[in-house]
Amino acid sequence: MYKRVSGTKDILPEDIINWQGIEEICRKTFRLYNYSEIRTPLIEDSALFNRSLGQTTEIIQKQMFIFNNKDESYALRPEGTASIVRAYIENNLDKSSRFLKFYYMGPMFRLERPQKGRLRQFNHIGCEAIGSYDAYLDTEVIALSDALLSRIGVKDAKIKINTLGCAADKAALAEKLRNELEPCAEFLCEECRKRLKTNVLRILDCKTESCRKIVQGLKNSKQEYLCNDCRNHFDEVKKGLDSLKIKYTLDHNLVRGLDYYTQTVFEITHDSLGAQDAIGAGGRYNNLVKELGGPDLGAIGFAFGMERLMLSLKTKINLEENKLIYIVTLGKEAMLSGAQALEILRKNNIAADMDYEKKSVKGAMRRASDLNARYALIIGEDELKKGVLTLKDMQKGTQTETTLDNLIKEMKC
Ligand code: HAM
Repeated sequence: MYKRVSGTKDILPEDIINWQGIEEICRKTFRLYNYSEIRTPLIEDSALFNRSLGQTTEIIQKQMFIFNNKDESYALRPEGTASIVRAYIENNLDKSSRFLKFYYMGPMFRLERPQKGRLRQFNHIGCEAIGSYDAYLDTEVIALSDALLSRIGVKDAKIKINTLGCAADKAALAEKLRNELEPCAEFLCEECRKRLKTNVLRILDCKTESCRKIVQGLKNSKQEYLCNDCRNHFDEVKKGLDSLKIKYTLDHNLVRGLDYYTQTVFEITHDSLGAQDAIGAGGRYNNLVKELGGPDLGAIGFAFGMERLMLSLKTKINLEENKLIYIVTLGKEAMLSGAQALEILRKNNIAADMDYEKKSVKGAMRRASDLNARYALIIGEDELKKGVLTLKDMQKGTQTETTLDNLIKEMKC
């Protein structure tokens, strides 16, 4: 028997209701905030990610699905931001309007060690707003992530925010941290001992207990390395969030695992998820558009992990009443009449299906109930003689005689 590849998931019909519900709610909400959908390829030139995400990040070091073809090296996209910036530049989108807001949904790929909430193929729902440095945009983007969660019905999510400052601030913070952490290098985990040389900021959000203890013991003065502009920017972001009554906590150890971030970073967690508790994350990346060959433009975005959203959603999304009509026929002639009714209902945009397995009436009604049909439409000898249909309301349990015309009129009301 064949099995799915480790770290991948089948999305079965029973999960699809919530899956599609989340997508639909997000689409509507993004449109409300004036974001337009963008779709980029699943494969990109590996160099795009090497350049954007940072050589020393975990994704580049060990999580990329790479395949080579002659002199070319392709990667399955591990995230959406770099691709969208590439598409923005390549398609000259800045020529129509410098400030543009995009949203996206789709699969991402990372060669991770699979565990609950950590897959090798997973889905992002995210957005990127490119072309503004304004702090109020940071507020809008964080508020949007909060609005999405409450519209989807995810309760008790926590938003953590921090600022990394500009590139110069980040370098100054890295220097300070290296000086403070080098004397206790032997107590850091193996990964963080490497990070001390390559990516010291990541030590701040290492989950290993020994590293956390050391980080907690650091002098809490990281914010003093912020330049005035970055400090003011962050103050405005916080003021904006307060004015919108968005709840958040400040976490000066929040760094994020991608090198492109500058200034505001944020992460949204949910306690029900265990070790992989981030349902979404994002931040500003003011240098990325320029670094990838575009104009000098500020940008910010975030992405939710769809599978983690699904895990943290405890209720069923019920976007619209299921109005399926299930046709139950008795005998060959009734079956033909049923097939005609099915065709007419569907032409009138009414969802309908029929029992093709020639079940007993009892068995067919059970199937209608399993399908959560709103009505069962019964056609037997009696109905054929009288030229009527028997309509059973599956919720109320009542039964009436009707005609197809009347039923269509009623369903359209
Ligand atoms: P990220 O934190 O790497 O950020 O991913 C965003 C979210 O995707 C995570 O919070 C998590 O919910 C989900 N996720 C990540 N890896 C996995 C995995 N292996 N299995 C399941 N879910 C996963 C980014 O990718 C940035 N591009 C976000 C962003 C957009 N920043 C600015 N704009």
